[in-house]
Amino acid sequence: MAGIVRCFVTLLIIVVLIPTSSGQLTADFYDKVCPQALPTVKSIVQRAIMSEPRMGASLLRLHFHDCFVNGCDGSDLLDDTANFIGEKTSIHNLNSLRGFDVVDEIKAAVNSACNGNVVSCADILAIAARDSINILGGPCYNVLLGRKDSLTASLADANADIPSPFSNFAGLLSNFQSHGLDLKDLIVLSGGHSIGLARCATFTPRIYNDTDINPSFATSLKNACPVNGDGNNTAPLDATTTIFDTVYFKGLTRQKGLLHSDQELFNGGNSQSANLVTYYSNNRAAFWEDFGYSMIKMGNLPPATSNGQVRLNCRKVN
Ligand code: HEM
Ligand SMILES: *[C@@H]1O[C@H](CO)[C@@H](O)[C@H](O)[C@H]1NC(C)=O
Ligand SMILES: *[C@@H]1O[C@H](CO)[C@@H](O)[C@H](O)[C@H]1NC(C)=O
Repeated sequence: MAGIVRCFVTLLIIVVLIPTSSGQLTADFYDKVCPQALPTVKSIVQRAIMSEPRMGASLLRLHFHDCFVNGCDGSDLLDDTANFIGEKTSIHNLNSLRGFDVVDEIKAAVNSACNGNVVSCADILAIAARDSINILGGPCYNVLLGRKDSLTASLADANADIPSPFSNFAGLLSNFQSHGLDLKDLIVLSGGHSIGLARCATFTPRIYNDTDINPSFATSLKNACPVNGDGNNTAPLDATTTIFDTVYFKGLTRQKGLLHSDQELFNGGNSQSANLVTYYSNNRAAFWEDFGYSMIKMGNLPPATSNGQVRLNCRKVN
């Protein structure tokens, strides 16, 4: 209930301050064509998170991996076809991205609630990410809408454009800058790791070889992730994986980042980054506000081409 109240307050303030100034996306895009669109998405997201709390994290990551590969255009949802190999089998997505069934469920529900094919898959990801964060106890930032879905997807671009958990600070920053995002966006959006899990395969070198890791934290993870294991076990990205809080940042200040890339934000040699980690670790209000701002910025990443469509089925072009 508190979450819902907070959501309305934030919405009202932001709508008044920035009505339509952010490019072509707008907050009220579906208000006339399908007023039921946003409540319908939220109800399915709510149900999915009730049955599996991790699903909120998985939906957030789908939006991030969509936006970082040729803009927010639903490209990561496309299955492979005879004409292209899509993004699902790329390095950072294979056996890793999840939530596709929930997106299908949302898409079917909005198509029905809107009496037709009105809401794009890219917008569904943006709305589902925002709702997930709010449902898991986080802020309710304003979500801007009106995206079109891509007609193709690119395995090569997904391999090149999604940041690696083995990156150092410089690599992470240059990846974000190549997407028009800055150092502060990098730190605050990494706070997405306040929720969700990661497979051993993504952090095994860290727990065996890194020196900027809390020793007892490393020892406990080695039990779940033996050197010659299959890499498929999972561990929490922070100590409270179903609550969108500042525990992720607190963990970094205690050398308890799960991924090498996480710990680089604090120990990677950039003092501005380390200072921001400390700042957010002690300031939930600032984290929430800045997270909403940076999510809108990420959600504005433009598609590579202007020809798009509203897909009837998020897995394939019409
Ligand atoms: C800064 C660079 C980033 C790197 C290197 C990175 C890397 C990763 C990796 C390796 C995983 C685990 C994947 C697996 O187990 O297969 C993960 C999970 C996750 N990431 Fe990131 N990530 C980054 C930024 C972000 C951002 C910006 C967001 C969202 C704003 C995000 C949201 C998530 C979430 C929510 C999960 C958990 C997903 C689940 O439990 O299903 N990440 N990330
Ligand atoms: C740790 O580093 C050594 C030496 O570079 C390497 O051979 C080994 O594979 C690494 N261990 C893990 C688990 O990554
Ligand atoms: C890890 O899990 C995936 C399915 O999620 C499976 O395809 C893969 O074979 C598993 N890896 C091993 C080594 O068992």
